[in-house]
Amino acid sequence: MAAIDNRGQQLLVALNSLLRTVRIHDDTNRQAVECAANFVDSVSAICGLDSGEEFTLQISNGRFFLDDEKILHGRNTETLIQVMVDYFSERQLSGFTFSPDICTINHPDILLFARMVNQAAEQEDPAAWLKKMLDENDFYWVEHFEPDQATGDPEAVDSEEGDEATDQEDRRNRARKIYSYGLDNLKGVAMKLAGGQRAGIKKSVRLVQNFVNLLDDDAPVMLGLSTLRIYDDETYSHSVNVALLAMSIGKKIGLSRGALEKLGLAALFHDLGKVSIPQAITKKPDGLTSREKVIMRSHPLHSVRQIVMLRAPHSRKAQIVLPAFEHHMKFDLTGYPKASSWHISLFGRIITIADVFDAITSPRVYRKNFLSPDRALGFMIQLAGKDFDPIILKVFINMLGLYPPGTVVELDSDELGLVIETPATNRKGLPVILLLKGDADKGYRKGETVDLAERSADSGQYLRKIVNTAHPAAYNIQPVQFIF
Ligand SMILES: [Fe+2]
Ligand SMILES: [Fe+2]
Repeated sequence: MAAIDNRGQQLLVALNSLLRTVRIHDDTNRQAVECAANFVDSVSAICGLDSGEEFTLQISNGRFFLDDEKILHGRNTETLIQVMVDYFSERQLSGFTFSPDICTINHPDILLFARMVNQAAEQEDPAAWLKKMLDENDFYWVEHFEPDQATGDPEAVDSEEGDEATDQEDRRNRARKIYSYGLDNLKGVAMKLAGGQRAGIKKSVRLVQNFVNLLDDDAPVMLGLSTLRIYDDETYSHSVNVALLAMSIGKKIGLSRGALEKLGLAALFHDLGKVSIPQAITKKPDGLTSREKVIMRSHPLHSVRQIVMLRAPHSRKAQIVLPAFEHHMKFDLTGYPKASSWHISLFGRIITIADVFDAITSPRVYRKNFLSPDRALGFMIQLAGKDFDPIILKVFINMLGLYPPGTVVELDSDELGLVIETPATNRKGLPVILLLKGDADKGYRKGETVDLAERSADSGQYLRKIVNTAHPAAYNIQPVQFIF
């Protein structure tokens, strides 16, 4: 990053001109338009240095930084930088995170951003006010940077626990926080859409980026995370789970980081169209009438419509719209929407598998026949080549193992256990389980962790064998209490 100091100075110069110009000129003024264009160019130049990633311009102890790199004072810029330090201090602003999407933003929005930053000085809590204004205007390309935020944002989780956190407990904690952040985020998007408002996807992008990091650090934790369910928010839990499972498949087949992000976003939004279907239909406990079925089956089309309405760059939306349309078409095209000839995209085929697996393993009000994870895989194998792409299904099954995390196992030792880890491939599919102590009446509690591949030293026989499997709900167990 040799040139970064220079670019950092250029950014501060451009920001300074922009903030000054909007004080005296309106949106149509040529100078104002030029300042906005210069500012966008300076931000894009920095994003370009790091292959299109976002970056943070932050102030700490009276010095400006680009991410962790200090912006050096040049002879010509020393005074200007001091002016900017005072400007930020006066507003108690810590900095801004800019995304490369800024290059697609129109000048009026850039000018409005600058006006809002100026106006922040008149507010009681400038940072909070600015954050609210940026959210209200769906400025997904800029965010006020809060160094010690503890708001449940995964960024906060990072800073709270440090990059060095390699301990599994820490990773699980972090994973759980990211998951609940994901739920809140998705709920926010859906509520905006249901209320006829437009929603941005900046936070969703951040969320899937965190999922990608998690996949790099600890893929099994990602899988365990998909057994998490918040029963009140099943639609959102479902979408977050589908994203986790789909991205895990994507990682297994070697997708790039960028592709995993797109896959995750597409999965997160695949059922977005359900906000357009009356809840009396989506949550109906008994069978749907044929008319209700027609309405329900229109949700992939509604998902397409809702995705198109999202406040995000067209290129980004174009990448995620197709799988939403395709996720119920089925591999042999016998699903819906009907198409006589269609090649379902790779993401569409992946999301279909993640979607069905999560749907048939989740005990929802209206679904009495939910399956334990291992039986769900058995059921899905029968539909390979019909409903599912057989090759991707095989990858999925190999990934989850014979007894996927979240399966309850009954043992020949009369003990009960919960699968917490997918085994490595060379263990004949025998999982690591957590023994469950107690009983259904008084509730279960954590016992010891046991490896079912363990054999007796004398006989060479396995110490414990699985005699039956069950869904956690059959024992009134919430896997989340045990796995995380
Ligand atoms: Fe769906
Ligand atoms: Fe779904």
